[in-house]
Amino acid sequence: MTIPRFITVEGIEGAGKTSCMDLLERRIRERGHQVLVTREPGGTPMGEDLRQLLLGHRHDGMADDTELLLMFAARAEHLHAKIEPALAGGSWVLCDRFTDATYAYQGYGRGIDLQRIATLETWVQGKRRPDLTLLLDLPVEVGLERAGRRSTPDRFESQALAFFERVRRGYLGLAAASPGRFRVVDAGQSLDKVSQQVTAAIDAFLDQADSR
Ligand code: TMP
Repeated sequence: MTIPRFITVEGIEGAGKTSCMDLLERRIRERGHQVLVTREPGGTPMGEDLRQLLLGHRHDGMADDTELLLMFAARAEHLHAKIEPALAGGSWVLCDRFTDATYAYQGYGRGIDLQRIATLETWVQGKRRPDLTLLLDLPVEVGLERAGRRSTPDRFESQALAFFERVRRGYLGLAAASPGRFRVVDAGQSLDKVSQQVTAAIDAFLDQADSR
């Protein structure tokens, strides 16, 4: 049996993560693998409650460290209650955002020391890391314009353009530092072209995983 894999999707707001997740789920299932589809922050009842605290405007002045710790609290619960049991049971896991988002948003965006994030990462995750991460990259103005058309801005979407520029650069830096794990998709193109890139990336990964 193929070893179950942990796949994550990342990108700034409006990058098209939802369509990408749908496509990935379909391709993975077509190969006969079970897959748990989930998201962060969230994925468990407690995680979804924490998501509301983190994304809503009720706590607009939240300290950066509080935000960081709540992200990892939600992640600890998610790993414990869903991700690790699924992988142990032979299911693949497809997660909309994971710890790269913490490096990008809380680290590069808010300016929290990356070493602190690395400490929490090891504490909460042990050795668990994604096997494949698709980064949907596009210009910040394009992403925010797309996201703005969808709904009223949440606590993150309300940040200034400069914040998202730092997040985008952070993501690209993370991808450059781990080229074996990341596939960077040019998400500024048409939906068709983006789908082609995502399909090529997941098919290559599946071919490799299934041949082992
Ligand atoms: P989304 O899942 O709808 O994109 O919204 C989640 C928001 O939470 C998004 O703005 C990114 C942010 N976020 C962080 O800041 N740090 C994290 O670790 C995660 C998982 C998400």
